[in-house]
Amino acid sequence: MLDWDTLRSACDGCHRCPLGQTRTNLVFGVGNPEAEILFVGEGPGEQEDLRGEPFVGKAGILLDKMLACIGMSRTENVYIANIVKCRPPRNRDPLPEERQACIPYLRAQTKLIRPKIIVCLGKVAATTLIDPDFSIMRSHGVWYERKGYWMIATFHPAALLRNESLKRDAYSDLLRIRAKYDEILSSEIKKGPPDESDGQKEETEK
Ligand code: URA
Repeated sequence: MLDWDTLRSACDGCHRCPLGQTRTNLVFGVGNPEAEILFVGEGPGEQEDLRGEPFVGKAGILLDKMLACIGMSRTENVYIANIVKCRPPRNRDPLPEERQACIPYLRAQTKLIRPKIIVCLGKVAATTLIDPDFSIMRSHGVWYERKGYWMIATFHPAALLRNESLKRDAYSDLLRIRAKYDEILSSEIKKGPPDESDGQKEETEK
């Protein structure tokens, strides 16, 4: 398994797809590398490309507020990454071949973090990680258990900025995420300290 430094260097030098030629900065991810929850967006936008950090533009400000409303923050209890680590031109959706090229890096990050919960922010993340036919309108807020991870999708914060009427549903998704997190933590406390076999989780695949 790759360690963080090796993974970071591999990403920094990556030219597996054409997005590597047009990026200003690679956007690796941010947060607690031991977080129980991994949030996955789509790909960097303009501000993220300039600063090298995910979700720092308008959608990022909203994401920080969403996290705060369930008592979380990007520096403490979550890790935030994207399906692709380089900005797609004019913020278009990443192409299937760009997602395929980049996803091994997200898998490697997931193996290192070993989160209990993976939250897909929007359609690109949900169709890449949960189900290619995933419909956010129909299936947001639904839990899926995949290879040892609890997975759920909710609305991308950029979609909430475009359509405020979705915020109520997004709030109820966030409450479900917080409830699952509390449930997992309390069952861990009851179980006691982990034994050796708890380190054997498999990666999430698609
Ligand atoms: N939108 C995303 O999906 N990811 C970011 O990092 C920023 C905006």
